[in-house]
Amino acid sequence: MDLTYRPRRLRRTPSLREMVQEHSLNPANFIYPLFVHEGADVESINAMPGANRWTIDTLVAEVERAWNLGVRCIVLFPKIADSLKSEDGAECFNENGLIPRAIRRLKKELPDMTVMTDVALDPYSCDGHDGIVSSEGVVLNDETIEYLCRQAIVQAQAGADLIGPSDMMDGRVGAIREALDEEGFEHVGIISYTAKYSSAYYGPFREALDSAPRDTSVKPIPKDKSTYQMNPANAREAITEAQLDEQEGADILMVKPGLAYLDIIYRLREESDLPIAAYNVSGEYAMVKAASERGWIDESQVVLETLLSFKRAGADLILTYHACDAAKWLREA
Ligand code: PBG
Repeated sequence: MDLTYRPRRLRRTPSLREMVQEHSLNPANFIYPLFVHEGADVESINAMPGANRWTIDTLVAEVERAWNLGVRCIVLFPKIADSLKSEDGAECFNENGLIPRAIRRLKKELPDMTVMTDVALDPYSCDGHDGIVSSEGVVLNDETIEYLCRQAIVQAQAGADLIGPSDMMDGRVGAIREALDEEGFEHVGIISYTAKYSSAYYGPFREALDSAPRDTSVKPIPKDKSTYQMNPANAREAITEAQLDEQEGADILMVKPGLAYLDIIYRLREESDLPIAAYNVSGEYAMVKAASERGWIDESQVVLETLLSFKRAGADLILTYHACDAAKWLREA
């Protein structure tokens, strides 16, 4: 055939392919989510094989392992005992609570690791919502923000480097920025869950923390988070959220979940010059684990291909439970 253009020329050898490769993975761009609890033992999580609820002691060892594999940031999620949960979730700003203690310990033993936190009430709320639920069953915006600001300050005081509001209340990024600045934490950054969708992909995470919305029959409890998390049918709205977060002072924007929302990552990349993070969430992790356990897919290849898709879509950072495994596979490759 008389073909002028033959794209296969640049695919012919490994070195040619490597030379023209557009995107690549670096463990320093991974953010490793970790669960921590008060118990004396490490607990496995049914729908998240390979992830655990760590004790503070074992958490330190796991974070050190991640550091040695090149991971530079972790994010902490607490499983709070039912006895400490309440309607307003006030345990979230207890300075001797699980998260502040875990942060202080990590910062003492591994000061160079960047520590990100999650700001929202759900792990601490007996209703399982990210905000305070009124007696009429409405998730209250402005009242919740006061609590979130106090939570963020306690996390910053403990040594957190990046505060991650995941609650989707309107105006919380600006309020947290102001609260941090007032307390002298102008150097602490905000990684905002900017476009966080009301997603069924969070199922395994809610199992890990036992944090799903639940009816306590004291008042009507919304059964899902759709009055504050975004409708999966909407894309333009993500741009509005991104513009607001930028104006309010976010340092990094996040899209969550990741895989079913690659178009949103791409749009935000076009819209903003801030770093963008993609959250490869618990349900995405569980699907890969389940299929690979059955031998239906090759786990390492599927994981690395998936993580690369976030980069290709425009993400700079990837929150992933596969962080340590992926870092190891990259090293071996
Ligand atoms: C809580 C929070 C959730 C996740 C991160 N922070 C769950 C939710 O909003 O219900 C989900 C993470 C995952 O599924 O991996 N605000």
